[in-house]
Amino acid sequence: MNAVYEDVTPSPADLIRSIAEQGYTLQASLADLIDNSISANATAIDILVCAEREPFQVFIADNGNGMSEEELSVAMRLPSQSPLNQRSTHDLGRFGLGMKTASFAQTRRFTVLSKKVGDQRYSGRTWDLSLLEQGEWKIAVNNSDEITKLLSKYKEESRSRDNELEGFEPNTLVFWDGLHKFEEFITIETVDVHTYVYNTNKPLHMTCVKQLQRAICYC
Ligand SMILES: Nc1ncnc2c1ncn2[C@@H]1O[C@H](COP(=O)(O)OP(=O)(O)OP(=O)(O)O)[C@@H](O)[C@H]1O
Ligand SMILES: [Mg+2]
Repeated sequence: MNAVYEDVTPSPADLIRSIAEQGYTLQASLADLIDNSISANATAIDILVCAEREPFQVFIADNGNGMSEEELSVAMRLPSQSPLNQRSTHDLGRFGLGMKTASFAQTRRFTVLSKKVGDQRYSGRTWDLSLLEQGEWKIAVNNSDEITKLLSKYKEESRSRDNELEGFEPNTLVFWDGLHKFEEFITIETVDVHTYVYNTNKPLHMTCVKQLQRAICYC
């Protein structure tokens, strides 16, 4: 007798939404990206949080080895490589998922720009939940205008801080375009954020955003 099968291909957007709710805190998400920077031999990681207006945005930039366009394209996949592959002992990655799952836990749209250390030209890719709503697994390939605009925005934000990293050139930049959990919290709870943060333990994440206005890690 022939076996009978059913197609169980998941809805891309729903699967991502579910993955995003697997218990990642903001700190755990940032830690996952910091692991990646360390694995790429970064000596400086610049984390900028822009929470003055919505959408809140976060830049995580590092001066590590960076990625070629082909490497970036692979890195954005779910997973980017088999967990069965042997890795170097220096590589903190194991599952090929962290950058995507940690980012989607915090945002609905994120972009990664990267270039190999020493190169001039960046490549960029964007995962966007609204694109996945169309039912296909695809990401956007950023054009040079989008890349230039995002880099300028990062540099502008960086310059506006007192503790700008002098001479820092990012080779990889992860950009979270929106921190929907925090934004929704503020919209729903029409209370003064500071009062609420300090009087209850619920919006711990918001406290983190404030504390993380500028966090710089030297590895
Ligand atoms: N900041 C970075 N600089 C250079 N390459 C990076 C950077 N971030 C990610 N990558 C590349 O993208 C790949 C995918 O990263 P991702 O975090 O998704 O998975 P992983 O680190 O391999 O495994 P894990 O799921 O355990 O984190 C990495 O293996 C690495 O090759
Ligand atoms: Mg990783």
